[in-house]
Amino acid sequence: MAEENKSATLTIDGQSYELPLHSPTAGPDVLDIRKLYAQAGVFTYDPGFTSTASCDSTITFIDGVKGELLHRGYPIDQLAGKSHYLEVCYLLLYGALPTAAELETFESTITRHTMIHEQMYNFFRGFRRDAHPMAIMVGVVGAMAAFYHDSTDISDPVQREIASHRLIAKMPTIAANAYKYSIGQPFVYPRNDLDYAGNFLNMCFSVPAEEYQVDPILSRAMDRIFTLHADHEQNASTSTVRLASSSGANPFACIAAGIACLWGPAHGGANQACLEMLKEIGSVDRIPEFIARAKDKDDPFRLMGFGHRVYKNFDPRATVMKQSADEVLDLLGVENNPILAVAKELEQAALNDPYFAEKKLFPNVDFYSGVILEAMGFPTSMFTPIFALSRTVGWISQWKEQLSDPAHKIGRPRQLYLGETERDYVDIENR
Ligand code: CMC
Repeated sequence: MAEENKSATLTIDGQSYELPLHSPTAGPDVLDIRKLYAQAGVFTYDPGFTSTASCDSTITFIDGVKGELLHRGYPIDQLAGKSHYLEVCYLLLYGALPTAAELETFESTITRHTMIHEQMYNFFRGFRRDAHPMAIMVGVVGAMAAFYHDSTDISDPVQREIASHRLIAKMPTIAANAYKYSIGQPFVYPRNDLDYAGNFLNMCFSVPAEEYQVDPILSRAMDRIFTLHADHEQNASTSTVRLASSSGANPFACIAAGIACLWGPAHGGANQACLEMLKEIGSVDRIPEFIARAKDKDDPFRLMGFGHRVYKNFDPRATVMKQSADEVLDLLGVENNPILAVAKELEQAALNDPYFAEKKLFPNVDFYSGVILEAMGFPTSMFTPIFALSRTVGWISQWKEQLSDPAHKIGRPRQLYLGETERDYVDIENR
């Protein structure tokens, strides 16, 4: 916890209370209300946590006004441009960039954990073929607790470490299996001679009948997508992981909870929803109609891939993603892609519209990622599983940080109760 160097005074019914103010290394000061209820007998009220810091953390920092995202202090555009996903995983997990030897050991550890228990294949086969891959991922990741008993004791740092490595390593295998199952193709086992992104592409797109060569440029683009999604401070799914973990739940259960939360269209599910929206718009001449719908208070439609709770400026991940979309489509020879054309025109139309400007709604990470993933050959249902596999390292890093904090407590929010006060039970014949 940062040092207390200031305080604020709260007055309720003429009685004053001093509340400590903590100064972080970056971001606004944080008012410490932990003793407020004990001292003043009141709760604070903040549905949606718009003004509440739920923990202290040293992992990721977002300056939403500047449009800045830092992992352990390093800007995301530098990491996306110069680093690669497994190095970023190391950085998030351990707090510093690895030396060459540390990176080699880490990569080798992750590579050697990519296979899943053979019996887990029966789990996949138990699902309907048309199951959403996120539903499969929630189930299979939760089921890992039933297979890896030697890494569920959260009080043991060694077991925590093994669980972390297993989750990062096996998530691409699980996501790829969910995809293969949905299209009726045989599961493809991981290959240790390929890098993390290349191995994922191979498990998704190769078939036993013929040779598949991973294109290094596509593999780099895939790796960049993983990197751009790696962590994002205390977002809904990360907070879900932390809350699940606060009860002492095992690591696999906590990550399954995070996957479930990510699935929603306001969070990770926005990438699927965004591409579906771009397809529904279909051509640039229909953009004004959809902009009008997004602005209409009586229409629940929202521009998917637009807006963010924290960013009130460009999402820096979206900037990199847009460049990547151009590169990937160029490489694949997809010229004049109608979806990309709609996306670019829609972005401009929204940015020039006073409604979006006033509400500070800018494109977020999900606006362009779907265009790239579709061009690579992924169906829309795989977009959110790819987000989930990328975010696993963020969830795990935040989970480890929480468990290493000796002061951590079970999460237990209070409420503003507006229901009935105590009343007597009425027998059924008298109601
Ligand atoms: N289209 C149209 N209007 C919007 C949009 C949008 N995409 N987003 C926000 N607004 C309006 C909203 O109607 C509200 O207007 P008013 O003040 O008049 O009621 C105002 O902007 C503030 O919206 P909010 O819902 O109170 O803001 P929030 O911080 O609770 O929600 C959000 C953030 C991301 C859920 C929201 O912007 C949204 O639904 N966006 C579309 C879904 C999306 O792209 N989600 C991905 C987020 S980035 C990836 C991730 O981290 O998961």
